[in-house]
Parts: sequence; C-alpha cells; structure tokens
Amino acid sequence: MQLSAAQLSELRRSGFLILPGLFSETDVELLHSRLPTLFADGDPSNIEERSSGQVRTSMGLHLRDDLYARLVQHPRLFTPAQQILCEPLYIQQVKVNVKVAFSGEVWQWHYDFATHREEDGVPRPLALNLHVFLEDVTEFNGPLWFIPGSHLLGEHPASLDTSTTSYPLWVVDDTTITDLARRNGIVSAIGRKGTVLIFHDTLVHASPNNMSPWDRTIFSLILNPVSNAYTKIARPDYKHHRDLTPVVALPDDCLAV
Ligand code: SIN
Ligand code: MN
Repeated sequence: MQLSAAQLSELRRSGFLILPGLFSETDVELLHSRLPTLFADGDPSNIEERSSGQVRTSMGLHLRDDLYARLVQHPRLFTPAQQILCEPLYIQQVKVNVKVAFSGEVWQWHYDFATHREEDGVPRPLALNLHVFLEDVTEFNGPLWFIPGSHLLGEHPASLDTSTTSYPLWVVDDTTITDLARRNGIVSAIGRKGTVLIFHDTLVHASPNNMSPWDRTIFSLILNPVSNAYTKIARPDYKHHRDLTPVVALPDDCLAV
C-alpha cells in the first residue's frame, strides 16, 4: 500500500494523515478480541488510570500476543512508513490506548519527540506514530486533537508532568498552546474503526476525557529509523524497545493466517 503524492504532501503540510477503511471490520474485531486477556494478565506494562483503575495503556503487545506480533509487521502500516522514511526502521513502541466510557482520562498537550528525546536520548524527530482505530473514534469519546502544522513551527519548550495522569509525559505549557492554536486552530482526528492515522513526532496533540457512553480504543505503533535509535536506557523496554532489528513486512493477509 503506497501513499499517493497528494497524501504525502498532506502529511508534510499538516503533520498527520487519516486513512479510512484500511483495516476490515473482521481484522479489527479479531484484534479487539485479544484485549480482555492482555488487560487482565497482570503485566507491568498494563498502566491503569489514576481514578478508575481501568487500563489506560497496555504496552509491548507484540511480545505478549501473536496477533499483535503480526500487526506490527503489517504492510498497511509498514509500507507507508518505509515510503516516508526511506531507511531501515525498528519497533520503538507498541501499545493500545483505551479510554473507557465515562472514565477515560486526558492525554495532556504534548509532542512525542519531547519524551523520546528527554527519556530515551533519541537524536532527531523522525519517528512516525501509526494508529489503527479499534473502535469508532468520534467527537465525543476522547479523540486525539491536533494543532495542524505545529510540527513546522519550531521547537516548543516541554516539561515533565508526573501529576496530571498516571503516565509521565513531557508536556507543552498553556501559553505555547494558546499561541499555536491561535495561529493554526485545532482539529480532532476522528474515523470509523479500521481507520489508520499517521503523524509526525513533533506534531502537537492532546486528547480530552471520555465523557461519552462509548469506549475508545486505539492501537499505536511507533517506528523509528535504526540510524536514529535511542542513546539512553532509562525507561523499561516496553516504553522504548531495545531490539533494533529492522522490520520486514509480512503478506497483506497476515492477520487472517
Ligand atoms: C498519545 O498522545 O500518544 C495518545 C493519545 C491518546 O491515546 O488519546
Ligand atoms: Mn502522543
């Protein structure tokens, strides 16, 4: 699956790209069906919400489940990433972020590279975040909010927030967000289950609480060039995998096998 010239230019301009219908309902249901067991297995990479105790993020899934091991090599994720970055890529992070109905909590304003640089010593903001929506993501159930084009507006100051949620994150302050949002606005990344979303490491984003009666579950794979690998080992492997083996794509029907 190759991106068109128009899709590549849209990604360059706005910093993200939404690709509806890339995964079938059958694929998505299969992936979703693995989650209850993974969330209940007591693994330290299942990180719970501060208030409700529900799973907020469940990480390292390709090392814990054979279906997710195939998903991280899926050509509908890998081929676009390879096309954009044009060099060998390793699996930096694999997770499912959940926002349970009524209780799913915020992700603060941030860009991923601040955490990758500060925590893992990643030299350059090249990593790509590739999402697959495992449930419909709507205006109501806590979609990601992007400031389009914010990846082109220079380097923004960031600081470590360990208090707002259960997941420590390098976040961007309100004054900077106000300035960026006044310039470029805010858009939400919504779509039906099976949608793929790709975004750049320096794109500023956040997501609000899920006050709706609908769960929101999103798979996320971060691929980074081997030449741009971590230089610091401070976080657990499930937050930044150490294995630098380049990803190779499996056949297109790999989830069905
Ligand atoms: C992220 O910022 O990486 C996750 C945001 C979300 O799952 O809403
Ligand atoms: Mn993020």
